[in-house]
Amino acid sequence: MPSPVSNVADVLEKGAAYLAARRVPDARIAVELLMSRLLRCGRLDLHLRREVVLSGNLLDAMRRGTLRVAAGEPVQYVLGEVDFRGHLFKVDRRALIPRPETEELVECVLGCEALWAVEGGKPVIMDVGTGSGCMILSLAIERPGSFYAGLDVSGDALALAQENAQAKGLASVVPFLHGELADVVDPGKLDAVISNPPYIATSVYEQLPGMIRDHEPRLALDGGPDGLGIIESIIGDAAIALKPGGHLFLEIGHDQGGRVGAMIEDAGYTDVQVRRDLAGHDRIVHAVIE
Ligand SMILES: C[S@@+](CC[C@H](N)C(=O)[O-])C[C@H]1O[C@@H](n2cnc3c(N)ncnc32)[C@H](O)[C@@H]1O
Repeated sequence: MPSPVSNVADVLEKGAAYLAARRVPDARIAVELLMSRLLRCGRLDLHLRREVVLSGNLLDAMRRGTLRVAAGEPVQYVLGEVDFRGHLFKVDRRALIPRPETEELVECVLGCEALWAVEGGKPVIMDVGTGSGCMILSLAIERPGSFYAGLDVSGDALALAQENAQAKGLASVVPFLHGELADVVDPGKLDAVISNPPYIATSVYEQLPGMIRDHEPRLALDGGPDGLGIIESIIGDAAIALKPGGHLFLEIGHDQGGRVGAMIEDAGYTDVQVRRDLAGHDRIVHAVIE
C-alpha cells in the first residue's frame, strides 16, 4: 500500500495506481466506489471534494477496502451493496452481483404494454432464479400494485432476497419461494415469467476470472455442458405455468439467441423476439405462449 496520504484526490490517485499495478480491472472506478461509499456521496460528487482531508478512520477504512479489492474480491461485495436501476440492494457472497445488462430485462418487462393490459391491470409475475431479488423488487418498487414473487433453488440467495425485501418495505408484498418453477406453481397461473438463469457453459465458467469464480456462487453462473440446460427447463416449465397469452422474458448469453429462439418456438411460444444489449449482443428473449 502507498504511504498514508490525506486528501481525497491523492488517495484516489494512489489507490487506483495500486490496484492497476495488481491488474484489477476498472481500478479507478473501484476506488471511487469505495470512496463515495465512505463519504456518503455520489461518485460524480467526488471531484467537488478533491481537497477534503480524510480522517485517520476513513483512511484506514479506505486502506482495508482497497486491500480486499487488490486480493481479488469484487468491489460490490466489499461495499456490501449495488445500485440496480437506481435502487440500492444488499449483495454478498450468497448471490450473484446484479449486472447492468439485467437492468435492460426489467426495462423490457416494464415496456411490455400487453402485459400491463391484462384484465384488472395487475399481472402475476414470477422471477425464476431471483438471486438478490434485484429484478422482482425493482418491478415492485417501480410498478407497485401487481402480484410479484421470486423463487430460487439456493436458500442462501433467498435469505438475501428476503433481507432486501425487508429493507425496501416489501417483505409482506413479495414472497420468495424455494424450488424450481414446476415445484411451486400450478399450471396456467402466471401472466409473466422473468428469469436471468445460469447460462454459461461449464468449460467457459472454468476459464472465468478468479474475481468471479472464486467469489460468486457457481450455482448462479454454471449452466451445464452447453449452458442451455436450465434455460431449456425454464422454457418448458413456464409454458405450463403461464396463462395462455402469458409472457416469458429471459436473459441469455451473447451467442445464444438463435438456439434459445428455436427452443422457445419448439415449446409452443409465438412472437419470439431476441433483443440486443447496448454492446450489440443477443441478450434478452421475449416470447408469448399460445
Ligand atoms: C444468474 S443468477 C441471477 C440472479 C438475479 N436474478 C440477478 O439477475 O442478479 C441465477 C440464479 O438462479 C438460481 N438457479 C439456478 N438454477 C435454478 C433453477 N433450476 N431454478 C431456479 N433457480 C435456479 C441460482 O441460485 C441464482 O440465484
